[in-house]
Amino acid sequence: CGIVGYIGSKDTKEILLKGLEKLEYRGYDSAGIAVHNEEGVHIFKEKGRIADLRAVVNEDVQSSVGIGHTRWATHGAPSFYNAHPHQNEDSRFTLVHNGVIENDEQLKQEYLLEVPLQSDTDTEVIVQLIGLLSKEGMTTEDAFRKTLSLLKGSYALALLDKEDKSTIYVAKNKSPLLVGLGENYNVVASDAMAMLQVTDQFVELMDKEMVLVTRESVTIKNTNGEIIERASYKAELDAGDIEKGTYPHYMLKEVDEQPFVIRKILQSYQNEKGELTIEADILNALNEADRLYIVACGTSYHAGLVGKQYVEKMANIPVEVHVASEFVYNMPLLSKKPLFIFISQSGETADSRAVLVKVKELGHKALTITNVAGSTMSREADYTLLLHAGPEIAVASTKAYTAQIAVLSILAANVAKSAGIDIGFDLVHELGIAANAIEVLCDSKEEFEKIARDYLSATRNCFFIGRSIDYYAVLEGALKLKEISYIQAEGFAGGELKHGTIALIEDGIPVIALATQKAVNLNIRSNVKEVAARGANTCVISMKGLDQEGDRFVLPAVHELLAPLVAVIPFQLIAYYAALHRNCDVDKPRNLAKSVTVE
Ligand code: G6P
Repeated sequence: CGIVGYIGSKDTKEILLKGLEKLEYRGYDSAGIAVHNEEGVHIFKEKGRIADLRAVVNEDVQSSVGIGHTRWATHGAPSFYNAHPHQNEDSRFTLVHNGVIENDEQLKQEYLLEVPLQSDTDTEVIVQLIGLLSKEGMTTEDAFRKTLSLLKGSYALALLDKEDKSTIYVAKNKSPLLVGLGENYNVVASDAMAMLQVTDQFVELMDKEMVLVTRESVTIKNTNGEIIERASYKAELDAGDIEKGTYPHYMLKEVDEQPFVIRKILQSYQNEKGELTIEADILNALNEADRLYIVACGTSYHAGLVGKQYVEKMANIPVEVHVASEFVYNMPLLSKKPLFIFISQSGETADSRAVLVKVKELGHKALTITNVAGSTMSREADYTLLLHAGPEIAVASTKAYTAQIAVLSILAANVAKSAGIDIGFDLVHELGIAANAIEVLCDSKEEFEKIARDYLSATRNCFFIGRSIDYYAVLEGALKLKEISYIQAEGFAGGELKHGTIALIEDGIPVIALATQKAVNLNIRSNVKEVAARGANTCVISMKGLDQEGDRFVLPAVHELLAPLVAVIPFQLIAYYAALHRNCDVDKPRNLAKSVTVE
C-alpha cells in the first residue's frame, strides 16, 4: 500500500491524487482520499485504480489539508468498505495506514467490543482506539501516542482530526514513510516519488517516531514525546525518469533502458584507471567472510542465484541463496563468519527487511544491493551497493534484474582480485559486449512478438528448461511470463524434468529451452528431444557458437557467465507480448504489487 498527505494552500485533492498515481505500483485494488474543509471531512473512495477514484472525487471540494491511500489488500478483500481512509465511530478521526497490525484481534477483544466496526481491516482498529481514548479525555496527540504503544506490527499512518484542521498526525514503524518540506506547505508520502511534483526536500522518519505536520512546521517526536531534530535531504530523482513518455507501457520502456543501465553501472563503478571497484570497507567485509548468505524475494532472488555462481566461480567463496520469507522463520545453520547480502530493487520489501533486522540483532554485518538510495534496507544495513537503474515502475522487474546481475559480477570480480585470483577475462569489456547484445535484442522485438504468438497464444501452461546457470535464467523467464500474462509457467532444471514433471508434457505444450552454456549444451539438447518426443512444442533459444539447426532464436555471443544478462531479454519481451495478446494489464498485473511492505 502507499499513503500520501498534504497540508498547504494548493489544490489538495489534486496533489493527493497525483501522488497516489505515482504510488500505484505499491498496490491498486482500491484507493481513497479524505480532505478537510469548513464543512468537515469529505471522504472519497473506490474499488479499483486511482483513475476510478478520480472519477468519484467531487471536483468542487476545496481544502487545504488531506490524506490518501492506495491499497494492496491484506486484511479483508478489496472492496469499497475496506478501502481507506477509515474513521472512528463518531467520524472525528480519519486514518490511512500501510502495514499489518498483528494484534488487531486482541485489541478488538480488549477495547472495542462495544464499538460497531464498519470494515474487516486492521486499520479501523487503530482509528477506533484513537477515538475511544480521545473520548476518555486525552488530547489527540496523547491518544495517538497511546494507541501506537498498543500496536504490534508494521505501520505508516496519517491521521486527520475533525476538530483541528491545522495538523496531520503521522507515525511509522517498519513501513516506509517520509515527510516532504515546502514553502508554506508540507507533505507526507510512502515514497519521495509521490511528492516530487511539489518538493525535492525530504526528512527521513525512524521506526516508532511520531510527527506533527502543519503548514509551517514538522515536529518529530520519539516515544517519550521528546522532540528530535533532523536535517532534510534532497531527493536525487528526476521527475522525467518516472514518466513513460511515448512508450505504451513502463515495462517496455524499462526493457529498452537495459543497455544504458549496464553502461551507467560501468561508469559508476569505474575508478580513474578504468577499473571496476567497490568501496574498501565493503571489500574488507566480503574478504573477512567465510560464507556469503544472499537473501531476497522474487526477481531479486533469481538475480541472487546468478550472483552465487559469480562469487563461487570467480572468487571461490561459498554462497547460499535464500528466499527471505523462509529464512526469517527457518534459519539455516550459519557459518562462523557469515556476511549477509540483501538484494532488493526497492529496498523496502518487508520479508527481506525482517531478515535484515534479525541478522543485525544477531550481530552480523549486512550489505544491501538496491536501486533506491536512502531506502529502509539501505539505511539499516552496514553497507550499500547501488544499482543505478533509475526508477523502475512496472510491477514486473526487468532492468533492476539485469542491474543486480551486473553489480554482482562486479562484486565477485573485486573479491577475486583481492584474493589474487585471475578471473581470466576483462569484465569491463565483457559487460560492454553484453550491453551491446542487449541493445541488439531490444531491436528484435518483432521476433519475440512472433514467438509469443506462435507458442503462447492458445496455451494455459508453458515450461522453461535450462541447465547450469541457464537454469537460473529460466526461473526468471517463467516468473516474468506468469506475472504478467497469467499463463502457468514453470522453470525447471533440464535434467530434472524426467523425474516427474515430464508427466505433464502433452501434445502442443510449449517448452522454451535455453542453451548458452557449452558444458551442458548437448545435455539440454537431449532434454529438448525428450519433451519433443512426447509432443511438446519446443522453442530453443541458444547462443551464437552453440546454435544448431532448428533453434528458434540465436542470441549474440557474450561471455558464458554473463549469459543470463542477455538471455533474459527475450524472456521479458516474450512475456510482454504474451500479456498484450491476452489484453492483460502489463504494468499492473492482478494481485501483485511492486513493493510489498507487508510480511
Ligand atoms: C514483489 C514484486 C516482485 C519483486 C519482489 C521483490 O513481490 O512483485 O516483482 O521481485 O517484490 O522486490 P524487491 O524490491 O525486494 O526487489
